[in-house]
Parts: sequence; structure tokens; C-alpha cells
Amino acid sequence: MQGAFCTCSIAARLSPIGLDPPLYLAEYHGELCQEESMSRIVYVNGEYLLEEEAKVSIFDRGFLMADGVYEVTSVLGGKLLDFAGHAARLQRSLSELEMAAPVDMDELLSIHRELVTRNGITDGMIYLQITRGNPGDRDFTFPDPATTPSTIVLFSQSKPGLAENPAAKQGIKVISIEDIRWGRRDIKTVQLLYPSMGKMMAKKAGADDAWMVEDGHVTEGTSNNAYIVKNGKIITRHLGNEILHGITRAAVLRFAKEAQMVVEERPFTIAEAKQADEAFITSASAFVMPVVQIDDAKLGTGKPGPVATRLREIYLDESRKAAI
Ligand code: PDD
Repeated sequence: MQGAFCTCSIAARLSPIGLDPPLYLAEYHGELCQEESMSRIVYVNGEYLLEEEAKVSIFDRGFLMADGVYEVTSVLGGKLLDFAGHAARLQRSLSELEMAAPVDMDELLSIHRELVTRNGITDGMIYLQITRGNPGDRDFTFPDPATTPSTIVLFSQSKPGLAENPAAKQGIKVISIEDIRWGRRDIKTVQLLYPSMGKMMAKKAGADDAWMVEDGHVTEGTSNNAYIVKNGKIITRHLGNEILHGITRAAVLRFAKEAQMVVEERPFTIAEAKQADEAFITSASAFVMPVVQIDDAKLGTGKPGPVATRLREIYLDESRKAAI
């Protein structure tokens, strides 16, 4: 960075909302600016910090017990998709686990927006995690929330061209694996070891993802909801404790019904899925993504089907229009 005034500026990106950058940071621009392109500004417990400076205790229950919840909200064109849906699900996850929200939902929205601005995100995601905090030692029982405040962390992930993912043009392959996760998958917790193992099983098998099967029926993908299409009818598992209540799922089913498509919310087997005309997944980061192969069975023509393709278009159009 040349010249006496650093306008780039790490200092501005670190300043508290609405305040000028602190002078000591404005002056200290030489070394910081060199690192600026590498370093994200993240949010930790009320502060905007460089990612290298952000720290959480080793006694944090998120780290020791996976005692935390999270949300992933997409950003397209610098705007947040379905923020209200993610905020509502977050509140539900917190209340199911008797955890307090450390900030109110208006403040949460402004933190999301600040991270988009400070990190210059056009397309990407904002990741949010709230844990039951740091009680200062390891103990199975929950600490008293009056003395142990929850930990809140948010960071951005830049994914230029997120909506133009080439995988959507060719479709993805999934394998089926047993669903051995815990019984409250409707709560969006950070217990993601088995989903990570599932992704690795898929990778080793030369596939893109795994659909999980319990008692003979598909629950969902490792990080997405699962759908098949037969004779124009969209079939996806009904809501319950067995799956995450996807925010993208809710929007896509609403758009499908508005477009006079028939939706059936019920369990389906892998055998039925292999006989389907098409299949797809939904999530905040994949939007609507066609599935063209399940285990060794190619679906339909082996190319993304018309229903998934149309739903992806509608979802992206409508979500962009409603983004905030
Ligand atoms: N995953 N099911 C599971 C198990 C998920 O982890 C997700 C989201 C979904 C889709 O939910 P939504 O439409 O609200 O994103 C379904 C996020 C994207 C993740 O873990 O990165």
C-alpha cells in the first residue's frame, strides 16, 4: 500500500459499527495491508477481529462436547438469502437445547451484513455458530447460563459465482449409506462427524455425496435434503426429528406448489429412488442440485431432469428478488 493514507483498509474493516477506524490502526497500515487479501474479518463475542486474532477457549463446550448449533446463510449479489428462515431455525435449535441467544435477531442481521461488507463478499456464505460457552473446565452437566455466557462466532466464506456452479449443469452422483446419526437431526448442531465421514465414503467411491438410509428409507443427504421425481411428482421425506428442516426445502416446496407441481412428503426407499425419473438435493449452499446417479443406477437420461432444472431457476430467481 502506497502513500500516507491507507484507505483500503484493515482499520476500517475492524472498526466498531458506525465509528471511524481507531487511529493506531489507521497509522499501522504497512504490514497489515500486505496481509489484507489473505485475512478475513470475523466476529467473535461482540468484536470484529482478523481471523488470526480470533480465539475461543479450549474449555469451550463447542470444542469439548459438540455442544453448539449453527446456521449457514448464502449471499448472492452481496445480499442474504432467506435470513428470516435461518434466524427462526436458529432460535428453535437454541430453545430445544435450552441455550440462550447471545444477541437478538436484529443484531444478528447487522452482524451478517457487516461481515458481507467488511469482507467484500459478493457471492458466498456467512457461517454462524453458537455454543454453550466456556465454563472453565470439562464437565458433562450444563453450566449455569448466568455465569457462563454462550460463545458466538461468525465468519464469511467467499465463493464467487456460487450460483453458476458447473455441477448443476451435469448433475451429481450419490451413494447410499446407513444413517447412524443421533435422533434429533431437526436441531442444527455442530455434531458433523458422521456427515463428514459420509462425504469421505462418497469421495472414495468416486461420488459427490451420500444419501443416508434408516429403516430402509432415505432420510437426507449428508448436508442437504433429498428428493426424487416420478411421473412429474416431487417426493421428499416428511418433516420430523429424523431430518433437518431445510430452509431451502421449505422455499423450494412452496415455489413448486405455486408452479402447480405435485409434492408428496413421505418416506421413500433407495430402490424407489433408483427407479425415479430424476432426483435432486437442496441446501443453502447448493440451492437445487440435480442428482443423476444413485449407487450404480443412472437416473433417466443420466442428465439433470426438467423438474430439478426448473426448480433451480425458480429458486434462484425468487430468492435473489427477496434477498436482503
Ligand atoms: N447444511 N440436511 C442437513 C443434514 C444439512 O446439514 C443441511 C444444511 C440441510 C439443508 O438445510 P438448508 O436448506 O437450511 O441449508 C439438510 C449446511 C448447508 C451445511 O452444513 O453447510
